[in-house]
Amino acid sequence: MVDALDNLAVEAVGLTKVYGSGNTEVQALRGVDLSLSRGEVIALLGPSGAGKSTLLGIIGLVNQPTAGSITMGGQTVVAEGRFTVDVRSFRRKYMGFVFQKANLIPFLTAVENVQIAMEINDQPPRTARRRAMELLEYLGVSDRASHYPSMLSGGQQQRVAVARSLANRPNLILADEPTAALDSVRGRQVMELFRKVAHEQQTGVIVVTHDHRALDAFDRTLEMEDGRVRGEVLTSPAAKRSLTPQGPGGKGGPETSAGPP
Ligand SMILES: Nc1ncnc2c1ncn2[C@@H]1O[C@H](COP(=O)(O)OP(=O)(O)OP(=O)(O)O)[C@@H](O)[C@H]1O
Ligand SMILES: [Mg+2]
Repeated sequence: MVDALDNLAVEAVGLTKVYGSGNTEVQALRGVDLSLSRGEVIALLGPSGAGKSTLLGIIGLVNQPTAGSITMGGQTVVAEGRFTVDVRSFRRKYMGFVFQKANLIPFLTAVENVQIAMEINDQPPRTARRRAMELLEYLGVSDRASHYPSMLSGGQQQRVAVARSLANRPNLILADEPTAALDSVRGRQVMELFRKVAHEQQTGVIVVTHDHRALDAFDRTLEMEDGRVRGEVLTSPAAKRSLTPQGPGGKGGPETSAGPP
Protein backbone atom coordinates (compact mmCIF):
# COMPACT_ATOMS: atom_id res chain seq x y z
CA MET A 1 0.00 0.00 0.00
CA VAL A 2 1.66 3.15 -1.15
CA ASP A 3 -0.06 6.23 0.04
CA ALA A 4 -0.17 8.77 2.79
CA LEU A 5 0.42 6.23 5.52
CA ASP A 6 3.34 4.51 3.92
CA ASN A 7 5.53 5.77 6.73
CA LEU A 8 3.24 4.59 9.42
CA ALA A 9 4.73 4.57 12.83
CA VAL A 10 2.72 4.99 15.98
CA GLU A 11 3.36 7.72 18.45
CA ALA A 12 1.05 7.66 21.45
CA VAL A 13 1.40 10.24 24.17
CA GLY A 14 -0.21 10.41 27.58
CA LEU A 15 -2.90 7.82 27.03
CA THR A 16 -5.26 7.39 29.92
CA LYS A 17 -8.42 5.36 30.13
CA VAL A 18 -10.99 5.45 32.87
CA TYR A 19 -13.84 2.98 32.70
CA GLY A 20 -17.03 3.71 34.60
CA SER A 21 -17.43 6.34 37.27
CA GLY A 22 -17.90 6.70 41.00
CA ASN A 23 -17.72 3.39 42.83
CA THR A 24 -17.14 1.41 39.70
CA GLU A 25 -14.41 3.63 38.29
CA VAL A 26 -11.39 1.75 36.97
CA GLN A 27 -8.20 3.49 35.92
CA ALA A 28 -7.14 1.11 33.18
CA LEU A 29 -4.40 3.32 31.70
CA ARG A 30 -2.56 5.93 33.72
CA GLY A 31 -0.50 7.82 31.17
CA VAL A 32 1.07 5.57 28.60
CA ASP A 33 3.56 6.79 26.01
CA LEU A 34 4.46 4.43 23.24
CA SER A 35 6.25 4.76 19.96
CA LEU A 36 6.56 2.14 17.30
CA SER A 37 8.85 2.41 14.32
CA ARG A 38 8.13 1.07 10.89
CA GLY A 39 9.01 -2.58 10.66
CA GLU A 40 9.21 -2.99 14.40
CA VAL A 41 7.66 -5.86 16.31
CA ILE A 42 6.97 -5.34 19.97
CA ALA A 43 5.58 -7.59 22.64
CA LEU A 44 3.33 -6.30 25.38
CA LEU A 45 3.58 -8.27 28.59
CA GLY A 46 2.06 -7.91 32.01
CA PRO A 47 -0.29 -9.43 34.53
CA SER A 48 -4.00 -9.80 34.02
CA GLY A 49 -5.73 -6.46 34.35
CA ALA A 50 -2.58 -4.46 33.60
CA GLY A 51 -4.27 -2.68 30.70
CA LYS A 52 -2.77 -4.49 27.73
CA SER A 53 -6.00 -5.10 25.82
CA THR A 54 -7.19 -1.62 26.66
CA LEU A 55 -4.02 -0.15 25.19
CA LEU A 56 -4.28 -2.31 22.10
CA GLY A 57 -7.93 -1.35 21.62
CA ILE A 58 -7.06 2.33 21.85
CA ILE A 59 -4.16 2.09 19.43
CA GLY A 60 -6.44 0.05 17.17
CA LEU A 61 -8.94 2.93 17.27
CA VAL A 62 -11.57 0.58 18.62
CA ASN A 63 -11.86 2.46 21.91
CA GLN A 64 -11.40 6.13 22.58
CA PRO A 65 -9.00 7.00 25.37
CA THR A 66 -10.09 9.32 28.17
CA ALA A 67 -7.12 11.54 27.37
CA GLY A 68 -4.02 11.48 25.23
CA SER A 69 -3.12 11.66 21.59
CA ILE A 70 -1.97 9.33 18.84
CA THR A 71 -0.36 9.98 15.52
CA MET A 72 0.16 7.37 12.84
CA GLY A 73 2.47 7.99 9.93
CA GLY A 74 2.52 11.61 10.98
CA GLN A 75 -1.25 11.92 10.82
CA THR A 76 -3.12 12.78 14.00
CA VAL A 77 -5.73 10.10 14.62
CA VAL A 78 -6.57 10.86 18.24
CA ALA A 79 -6.26 14.29 19.82
CA GLU A 80 -7.09 15.02 23.43
CA GLY A 81 -8.96 11.79 23.78
CA ARG A 82 -11.03 12.18 20.59
CA PHE A 83 -10.83 10.44 17.25
CA THR A 84 -9.90 12.81 14.47
CA VAL A 85 -10.27 10.40 11.54
CA ASP A 86 -13.01 8.14 10.21
CA VAL A 87 -11.91 5.21 12.34
CA ARG A 88 -13.80 2.50 10.51
CA SER A 89 -12.26 3.17 7.15
CA PHE A 90 -8.88 3.90 8.73
CA ARG A 91 -8.91 0.55 10.50
CA ARG A 92 -10.05 -1.29 7.42
CA LYS A 93 -7.37 0.19 5.22
CA TYR A 94 -4.37 0.28 7.46
CA MET A 95 -4.76 -2.20 10.27
CA GLY A 96 -4.90 -5.93 10.75
CA PHE A 97 -6.24 -7.50 13.93
CA VAL A 98 -5.73 -10.93 15.43
CA PHE A 99 -7.41 -12.00 18.63
CA GLN A 100 -7.08 -14.89 21.03
CA LYS A 101 -9.98 -16.60 19.34
CA ALA A 102 -9.93 -16.69 15.58
CA ASN A 103 -13.43 -15.16 15.23
CA LEU A 104 -13.92 -16.55 11.75
CA ILE A 105 -17.31 -16.22 10.12
CA PRO A 106 -18.81 -19.69 10.60
CA PHE A 107 -20.78 -19.87 7.36
CA LEU A 108 -17.83 -18.93 5.14
CA THR A 109 -15.02 -21.28 4.19
CA ALA A 110 -11.43 -20.58 5.18
CA VAL A 111 -10.60 -18.94 1.86
CA GLU A 112 -13.82 -16.92 1.87
CA ASN A 113 -13.02 -15.64 5.35
CA VAL A 114 -9.78 -14.17 4.04
CA GLN A 115 -11.27 -13.06 0.76
CA ILE A 116 -14.10 -11.08 2.32
CA ALA A 117 -11.65 -8.87 4.19
CA MET A 118 -10.38 -7.66 0.83
CA GLU A 119 -13.78 -7.44 -0.83
CA ILE A 120 -15.08 -5.05 1.80
CA ASN A 121 -12.04 -2.97 0.90
CA ASP A 122 -13.25 -2.85 -2.71
CA GLN A 123 -10.93 -5.49 -4.15
CA PRO A 124 -12.46 -7.34 -7.11
CA PRO A 125 -13.50 -10.86 -6.04
CA ARG A 126 -11.08 -12.65 -8.35
CA THR A 127 -8.07 -10.68 -7.14
CA ALA A 128 -9.20 -11.16 -3.56
CA ARG A 129 -9.64 -14.88 -4.10
CA ARG A 130 -6.20 -15.28 -5.58
CA ARG A 131 -4.49 -13.41 -2.79
CA ALA A 132 -6.54 -15.27 -0.17
CA MET A 133 -5.30 -18.57 -1.57
CA GLU A 134 -1.71 -17.31 -1.61
CA LEU A 135 -1.98 -16.23 1.99
CA LEU A 136 -3.40 -19.57 3.09
CA GLU A 137 -0.52 -21.23 1.34
CA TYR A 138 1.92 -18.88 3.03
CA LEU A 139 0.46 -19.95 6.36
CA GLY A 140 0.45 -23.62 5.54
CA VAL A 141 -3.31 -24.12 5.52
CA SER A 142 -4.14 -24.03 1.83
CA ASP A 143 -5.23 -27.68 1.97
CA ARG A 144 -8.09 -26.54 4.21
CA ALA A 145 -9.19 -23.64 2.01
CA SER A 146 -12.64 -25.04 1.33
CA HIS A 147 -13.29 -26.11 4.90
CA TYR A 148 -15.63 -24.27 7.21
CA PRO A 149 -14.19 -23.02 10.51
CA SER A 150 -15.95 -25.77 12.49
CA MET A 151 -13.99 -28.32 10.45
CA LEU A 152 -10.63 -26.77 11.35
CA SER A 153 -8.48 -27.26 14.42
CA GLY A 154 -7.90 -24.29 16.72
CA GLY A 155 -4.44 -23.77 15.31
CA GLN A 156 -5.66 -23.92 11.74
CA GLN A 157 -8.41 -21.42 12.49
CA GLN A 158 -5.86 -19.11 14.03
CA ARG A 159 -3.63 -19.33 10.97
CA VAL A 160 -6.60 -18.42 8.78
CA ALA A 161 -7.18 -15.45 11.09
CA VAL A 162 -3.55 -14.40 10.67
CA ALA A 163 -3.93 -14.71 6.89
CA ARG A 164 -6.99 -12.49 7.14
CA SER A 165 -5.10 -9.89 9.17
CA LEU A 166 -2.49 -9.68 6.40
CA ALA A 167 -5.01 -9.53 3.57
CA ASN A 168 -5.05 -5.78 3.03
CA ARG A 169 -1.31 -5.33 3.53
CA PRO A 170 -1.83 -3.38 6.71
CA ASN A 171 0.64 -0.83 8.01
CA LEU A 172 -0.04 -1.92 11.54
CA ILE A 173 -0.92 -5.33 12.97
CA LEU A 174 -2.37 -5.59 16.45
CA ALA A 175 -2.62 -9.02 18.00
CA ASP A 176 -4.08 -9.82 21.41
CA GLU A 177 -2.74 -13.15 22.64
CA PRO A 178 -2.81 -14.64 19.15
CA THR A 179 -1.00 -17.79 20.12
CA ALA A 180 -2.91 -18.64 23.28
CA ALA A 181 -4.74 -21.44 21.46
CA LEU A 182 -1.68 -22.82 19.71
CA ASP A 183 0.95 -25.33 20.74
CA SER A 184 4.40 -23.89 21.26
CA VAL A 185 5.71 -24.81 17.81
CA ARG A 186 2.76 -23.23 16.02
CA GLY A 187 2.83 -20.30 18.40
CA ARG A 188 6.42 -19.68 17.60
CA GLN A 189 5.73 -19.91 13.85
CA VAL A 190 3.05 -17.27 14.14
CA MET A 191 5.41 -14.96 16.05
CA GLU A 192 8.16 -15.54 13.48
CA LEU A 193 5.69 -14.84 10.74
CA PHE A 194 4.75 -11.52 12.29
CA ARG A 195 8.39 -10.66 12.48
CA LYS A 196 9.01 -11.61 8.88
CA VAL A 197 6.04 -9.58 7.67
CA ALA A 198 7.07 -6.62 9.79
CA HIS A 199 10.60 -6.56 8.54
CA GLU A 200 9.82 -7.26 4.91
CA GLN A 201 6.81 -4.98 4.70
CA GLN A 202 7.88 -2.36 7.17
CA THR A 203 4.69 -3.09 9.04
CA GLY A 204 4.48 -2.24 12.71
CA VAL A 205 3.33 -5.12 14.91
CA ILE A 206 2.20 -5.08 18.53
CA VAL A 207 1.50 -8.44 20.13
CA VAL A 208 0.06 -8.97 23.60
CA THR A 209 1.42 -12.25 24.82
CA HIS A 210 1.96 -14.30 27.94
CA ASP A 211 4.30 -16.60 26.13
CA HIS A 212 7.78 -15.83 27.39
CA ARG A 213 9.29 -18.56 25.24
CA ALA A 214 8.79 -16.64 22.01
CA LEU A 215 10.10 -13.26 23.17
CA ASP A 216 13.26 -13.40 21.13
CA ALA A 217 11.10 -13.06 18.03
CA PHE A 218 10.42 -9.46 19.09
CA ASP A 219 12.50 -6.36 18.74
CA ARG A 220 11.34 -4.91 22.04
CA THR A 221 9.29 -6.01 24.97
CA LEU A 222 7.18 -3.60 26.97
CA GLU A 223 6.11 -4.64 30.42
CA MET A 224 2.83 -3.20 31.68
CA GLU A 225 1.61 -3.05 35.22
CA ASP A 226 -1.38 -1.31 36.72
CA GLY A 227 -2.07 0.88 33.71
CA ARG A 228 1.51 1.93 33.11
CA VAL A 229 4.39 0.78 30.98
CA ARG A 230 6.79 -0.26 33.70
CA GLY A 231 9.79 -1.13 31.64
CA GLU A 232 11.09 -1.80 28.25
CA VAL A 233 13.79 -4.19 27.09
CA LEU A 234 15.40 -4.86 23.78
CA THR A 235 14.39 -8.45 23.43
CA SER A 236 16.55 -9.78 20.69
CA PRO A 237 19.83 -8.47 19.36
CA ALA A 238 19.28 -10.59 16.25
CA ALA A 239 15.84 -9.15 15.74
CA LYS A 240 17.26 -5.70 16.23
CA ARG A 241 19.97 -6.26 13.64
CA SER A 242 17.46 -7.53 11.15
CA LEU A 243 15.56 -4.25 11.39
CA THR A 244 18.18 -3.05 8.96
CA PRO A 245 17.07 -4.23 5.52
CA GLN A 246 18.78 -7.46 4.52
CA GLY A 247 20.25 -7.72 7.99
CA PRO A 248 21.71 -11.05 9.06
CA GLY A 249 18.88 -11.90 11.44
CA GLY A 250 16.03 -11.67 8.95
CA LYS A 251 15.92 -15.17 7.65
CA GLY A 252 12.23 -15.62 8.42
CA GLY A 253 10.41 -18.47 10.01
CA PRO A 254 9.85 -22.05 9.05
CA GLU A 255 7.40 -22.75 6.25
CA THR A 256 7.41 -19.09 5.29
CA SER A 257 10.27 -19.01 2.85
CA ALA A 258 8.24 -18.05 -0.18
CA GLY A 259 4.93 -16.42 -0.77
CA PRO A 260 3.14 -13.17 -0.54
CA PRO A 261 3.84 -10.64 2.11
N1 LIG B 1 -15.32 -2.36 29.40
C1 LIG B 1 -14.79 -2.27 30.64
N2 LIG B 1 -15.49 -1.70 31.64
C2 LIG B 1 -14.95 -1.56 32.87
N3 LIG B 1 -13.72 -1.96 33.20
C3 LIG B 1 -12.97 -2.54 32.24
C4 LIG B 1 -13.47 -2.74 30.91
N4 LIG B 1 -12.51 -3.35 30.18
C5 LIG B 1 -11.46 -3.54 31.01
N5 LIG B 1 -11.74 -3.06 32.24
C6 LIG B 1 -10.83 -3.04 33.41
O1 LIG B 1 -9.65 -2.35 33.02
C7 LIG B 1 -8.49 -3.00 33.52
C8 LIG B 1 -7.57 -3.36 32.38
O2 LIG B 1 -8.19 -4.38 31.59
P1 LIG B 1 -7.52 -5.02 30.30
O3 LIG B 1 -8.54 -5.87 29.68
O4 LIG B 1 -6.92 -3.94 29.50
O5 LIG B 1 -6.36 -5.89 30.97
P2 LIG B 1 -5.34 -6.92 30.30
O6 LIG B 1 -3.99 -6.46 30.67
O7 LIG B 1 -5.66 -7.10 28.87
O8 LIG B 1 -5.67 -8.26 31.12
P3 LIG B 1 -5.69 -9.81 30.61
O9 LIG B 1 -4.27 -10.26 30.61
O10 LIG B 1 -6.48 -10.47 31.70
O11 LIG B 1 -6.36 -9.87 29.30
C9 LIG B 1 -8.99 -4.18 34.33
O12 LIG B 1 -9.03 -3.82 35.68
C10 LIG B 1 -10.39 -4.42 33.79
O13 LIG B 1 -11.21 -4.97 34.79
MG1 LIG C 1 -6.37 -8.69 27.71
